[in-house]
Amino acid sequence: MSHDPGLYFAEDGAPRSERFGDIYYSLQDGLAESRAVFLDGCGLPDGWRGRRGFTVLELGFGTGLNIAAVLKLWSETRAPDAHLTLFSVEGFLMARDEAARALAAWPELAPIAEPLLAQWPKARRGFARFDFPQWSASLSLALMDVRVALAQWHGRADALFLDGFSPALNPDMWAEDVVQALADHAAPGARLATFTVAGAVRRGLMAAGCAAR
Ligand SMILES: C[S@@+](CC[C@H](N)C(=O)[O-])C[C@H]1O[C@@H](n2cnc3c(N)ncnc32)[C@H](O)[C@@H]1O
Repeated sequence: MSHDPGLYFAEDGAPRSERFGDIYYSLQDGLAESRAVFLDGCGLPDGWRGRRGFTVLELGFGTGLNIAAVLKLWSETRAPDAHLTLFSVEGFLMARDEAARALAAWPELAPIAEPLLAQWPKARRGFARFDFPQWSASLSLALMDVRVALAQWHGRADALFLDGFSPALNPDMWAEDVVQALADHAAPGARLATFTVAGAVRRGLMAAGCAAR
């Protein structure tokens, strides 16, 4: 099976996946949306204030935009002795140059994008580890199907970013067993954020023990 996302840049410059028939984010305000939906949605940076360690789980690494946004916020607000652990899942990794082209839309992210892109994995399968010692942060990127990745991870997340294309176009990423696995990986008091308001996903999350806000 090919693990190529079939990435192309639409006329407006936004990255899209031919494989899934969906956009990664809207180019116009992708960073603003990422901040509003995922960072604000998970109550950051307040959530990590006073903490020695904080863990974020993301489904759908894509271009790395959400990860770059959370790293930037962390770099600006972290306590000096605190560590940020990031775990992200990607079954269809794009090429480094494609991600570089996408992230170049936000010059303010350049100081983060540079070390992120410098550690971009060469292989599309397996685990890749990124270290950001300048911000006391690390990223473990699971390059595999979501179910395999969640079964192999033993962490507990304080914030969960669910960003796996729309449930209508990619139901696999939102299946009941995936949602249950997410609930099993949530630390007490964890916050979860997603673009989707699909009723079935919402009901699945609530059935797995998540409360709506
Ligand atoms: C909306 S995009 C993520 C955008 C990303 N968070 C960003 O900041 O650019 C969804 C991602 O989920 C990945 N994906 C879709 N189905 C998957 C699956 N079953 N397992 C793992 N990754 C999957 C896609 O390859 C794509 O990169």
